[in-house]
Amino acid sequence: MSVTPKGIPIILDLDPGHDDAIALLLALASPEVELLGVTTVYGNQTLEKTTANALRVLDLVGRDDMPVAPGADRPLVRDLTVASHVHGDSGLDGPVLAPPTRAALDERAVDFMDRTIAASDAPVTLVPTGPLTNVALLLERTGGANIDRIVLMGGAIAEGNMTPAAEFNIWADPEAAQAVFSSSIPTAMIGLDVTHQAVTTPAVIERLVATGQVGAFVADLVEFFSVYHRETYGWDGAPIHDAVAVAHLIRPGLVTTVHRNVEVELVSELCRGRTVVDLWRRTERDANADVGVALDTGGFFDLLVERIGRLA
Ligand code: BDR
Ligand code: CA
Repeated sequence: MSVTPKGIPIILDLDPGHDDAIALLLALASPEVELLGVTTVYGNQTLEKTTANALRVLDLVGRDDMPVAPGADRPLVRDLTVASHVHGDSGLDGPVLAPPTRAALDERAVDFMDRTIAASDAPVTLVPTGPLTNVALLLERTGGANIDRIVLMGGAIAEGNMTPAAEFNIWADPEAAQAVFSSSIPTAMIGLDVTHQAVTTPAVIERLVATGQVGAFVADLVEFFSVYHRETYGWDGAPIHDAVAVAHLIRPGLVTTVHRNVEVELVSELCRGRTVVDLWRRTERDANADVGVALDTGGFFDLLVERIGRLA
């Protein structure tokens, strides 16, 4: 009897969020990964709203079987800040979406991750695309047992987006991010240096719309998400940050990485949450992350359009 390979077991830890929603759709459509569940975190909006958004997106594609466990509603030690200026009041402004048809699990994210990872035959990959609070709490509890790797969207070698120095996910909970980078779990950092190469074009949007209903939903998400990026950067599109982390897992080689040391700035107010990447090996600090430095942009959008089309 032949056994169907199930793909790499993953848990997505999200704060949807326009690009988180697209990352979720990409994972659902991709047999290279087996999505064991979704955990949510505050970030782009409050926990209540990001959790509702995860459920709404799963409803849209008929996946009400997918467990959703709510996690942290605030950073480890910092005050809560949400990104309404980018993602709107709902956290997923733009497309018209029905309210969720079900509640999230009663089980909290860290409990869900702990139980699911312990029960998995194969080591699990975590894909966090929001602030790293849930992941830091999990590592504190389990030491990272049965986690294969962490592929996170966050950070930047160059400039940030929340501040000139720092990217939003890392800025939001820098102590949690430092806990992840200083853990012994192999970690990939998919930061702004690569995700700002994943900016949609009108041609990509046309291709998405042509795939059907889910593609049209993604196009609506991008339309709203582009407002902030047009005003800030002058782009005619939006970077699909979080989907690049999922794409890195599905299609190795799309993102070029280098193995380097990454530390998170915790003390300075001006540089809070900066990911200090020792790109040119100016220190003796040991490399602790595979840091994204380049993206095959065409390959990324070909993959995204093709996979979104599978959900139509
Ligand atoms: C990150 O912050 C959020 O706005 C996005 O969802 C992404 O995860 C980009 O800085
Ligand atoms: Ca996100």
